[in-house]
Amino acid sequence: MNQLLSKNEIKMKEVFHYPVMHREIIELLDIKNKKIIVDCTAGLGSHALKFADIMQPDSYYIGIDKDEESLKIINDKLKALNIKFSLVKGNFADMDNILKNLGISKADVFLFDLGISMYQLTDPERGFSFTREGPLDMRMDRASFISAYDLVNNLSEFELESIFRKFGEEKYARRVAHVLVEKRQKEPISSTTQLAQAIVSAMPHIVFKYKIHPATRIFQALRIAVNRELEVLKTGLDKAINLLACRGRIGVISFHSLEDRIVKQTFKEFDSRGMLKIITKKPITPSPEEVKENIASRSGKLRVAEKM
Ligand SMILES: C[S@@+](CC[C@H](N)C(=O)[O-])C[C@H]1O[C@@H](n2cnc3c(N)ncnc32)[C@H](O)[C@@H]1O
Repeated sequence: MNQLLSKNEIKMKEVFHYPVMHREIIELLDIKNKKIIVDCTAGLGSHALKFADIMQPDSYYIGIDKDEESLKIINDKLKALNIKFSLVKGNFADMDNILKNLGISKADVFLFDLGISMYQLTDPERGFSFTREGPLDMRMDRASFISAYDLVNNLSEFELESIFRKFGEEKYARRVAHVLVEKRQKEPISSTTQLAQAIVSAMPHIVFKYKIHPATRIFQALRIAVNRELEVLKTGLDKAINLLACRGRIGVISFHSLEDRIVKQTFKEFDSRGMLKIITKKPITPSPEEVKENIASRSGKLRVAEKM
């Protein structure tokens, strides 16, 4: 079937990103009755489109993303609709300045849908996927300076090992770091598949029995390090909670335990200071029907809290 589609049509097909747990988010964040909605990870606007269906005519959607290309796509989608919106290229860790520039002092909803979109994952040029040959990049913001290539080819063996251990929780971090340093002495490791092969060659046979690809955790670790994901998450959450209006709600979808731990601890910290009420005592996970429809949602965890 694919050979009947032009390159652009194939790309557009891939541009679709399933809005993870959108029904739960709409209900728990009470999107229908909220005025100022800040989508901190606007992506391809799949959540935004769902919100647009039910937002009040005087509600205002603000979409933030680090990725300029994604914002162009979402702009095309939203301008066809009758909603008030602004899109801002930026890091959610800068949310206070972003909202100030828009003349906003408090918002009623903050949504964080963490990680990368299908658009970023499936574009080989972005270098996020070990199954697609592409440059070793992994920058969400293509204007930023440090890429996965820089880390893999310049960090010391010890630094690589600690990134793989800390951000990938990779049991074989030392072996992989050692092999990468050996390989890069012959020639730089410059593509995703070259890195994936090097990782595979470093792993013991037992890992091939596991369900996940042996390169999964190392790629995750590098992506987190390149984009400083955990550091900016904590800053972004702190700022969002401070900027939340009374009775406003914050929702965060995370996809791995490192992120979820930060969300859980931050909510608890503000709860103990009497600033936040935790709505989801345990994280909400996608229904079996959703996982069937979108397998990528299976590790998603949603936590919601309300400002006091
Ligand atoms: C999982 S996607 C979001 C998908 C979106 N909810 C949708 O429905 O299309 C995550 C998005 O967050 C963006 N992102 C990740 N970290 C960010 C940060 N610190 N600041 C701004 N955007 C970020 C990524 O570029 C990506 O587009």
